[in-house]
Amino acid sequence: MTTFARDQEGHATLGGTRLSTLLEQANVPTPAYVYDLSGIEQAARELKQAFGARRHLIAYAMKANGAGSILRTLRDAGTGVCLVSGGEMKVALGAGMAPGRMVINGVAKGDWEIDLAISQGLYAIQVESLEELGRIEARARTLGRPARVGLRINPGVEIESHSHIATGHDAAKFGIPRADVHGAFERIDATEWLVSVGVSTHVGSALSTPKAYVESAATVCEVARQRLASGSTLEYMNFGGGFGIDYGQQSADAPAKFAQAAVTLAAEHGLDALELVVEPGRSLVGPYGVLLATVRQGKESSARRWLMLDAGMNDLLRPALYGAFHRIEPLERPPSDKEWRVVGPICESSDDFGTHPLGELPERVVIRDAGAYGFVMASEYNGRALASEVFTKNGTVVNTSPSPGVDFWVERRLKA
Ligand code: LLP
Repeated sequence: MTTFARDQEGHATLGGTRLSTLLEQANVPTPAYVYDLSGIEQAARELKQAFGARRHLIAYAMKANGAGSILRTLRDAGTGVCLVSGGEMKVALGAGMAPGRMVINGVAKGDWEIDLAISQGLYAIQVESLEELGRIEARARTLGRPARVGLRINPGVEIESHSHIATGHDAAKFGIPRADVHGAFERIDATEWLVSVGVSTHVGSALSTPKAYVESAATVCEVARQRLASGSTLEYMNFGGGFGIDYGQQSADAPAKFAQAAVTLAAEHGLDALELVVEPGRSLVGPYGVLLATVRQGKESSARRWLMLDAGMNDLLRPALYGAFHRIEPLERPPSDKEWRVVGPICESSDDFGTHPLGELPERVVIRDAGAYGFVMASEYNGRALASEVFTKNGTVVNTSPSPGVDFWVERRLKA
């Protein structure tokens, strides 16, 4: 599930090569994200295999990590993409993803984003409210081209996850409530400018088993069955993403398990004729990326022992935002008993990565499982440059995206 390991001398490796060697090859400063494209490709292929002969589309949720190198890798491994903005769409198109393998979500899409989706001929615009249906219809009429729409249904399912990443419960802003689905179909059927092509859901992120996934997917199946029974056509069902990964504290079922559960559920509902779409993000990239940081200094007082990094919450926001845990280890030797409270340089108490067994003050550390929702959520807060990114394949560096550097930030602020 991860290609992070330790070699015989205890050095941290990714994809079989020492991370310190990769950093040297890439010649970029820390903080630096390093990704293993081979691991990502393998994860996508394994997920594909789990569908067997079942017609399906893996729409990679690129919000997890939208780097061109990753999109091109996944495109070659046969995935499509799940978008949430026009900006993402432009990157996906530029990376050679086919519009017919793209779906777009979002509760408040801009008119220009709707226009782009219609004119590019996306597989589906997934609609999250009746109000939005009206807006999409108006844009389609203006463009003179019908819009392919899917209904994103809010299944009213609670999940055991951080409240910030649960989306499928009744109080969430996402999706069309079950009670409004009939009205939504009526609205689509009343106009020639909307074509109903699918039904979707997404119950939330970081699921450790397929239980809630299947529960919310069952709602989609019921809606699809009713729609087909009424004599209408549909092309796909989409059960969303949310397959969890093991951050070292709780194990998670492999993505293949979620796929198998989805295939079985669809068959039980007699819906084998519909294309089966899933939208995994985290599970395809999270375990295959790390964030490397340099230790700036320790700080010891009678009661506390801090270890201060050159990476902060602006580089990796998950711990500050969700109380998320990422294992932090020395780069050049395995973890050992002595514990440190690891913090970044940002002037916020929440710039805190938790307590980790780092032993004697290391020079550099590796923050694990940072391939998803890491760089994409980074900011320049406190006048900091965005981190560098390094892409590796078969254990060697194949692409680097160096940090723009602090002067880039300085120039833009001065011009502002
Ligand atoms: N589809 C939809 C409609 C989504 O909203 C999401 C994630 C996904 C698919 C992909 O979910 P995944 O397979 O990655 O769990 N920033 C948070 C996660 C936010 C997830 C938002 N939606 C984190 O760092 O944990």
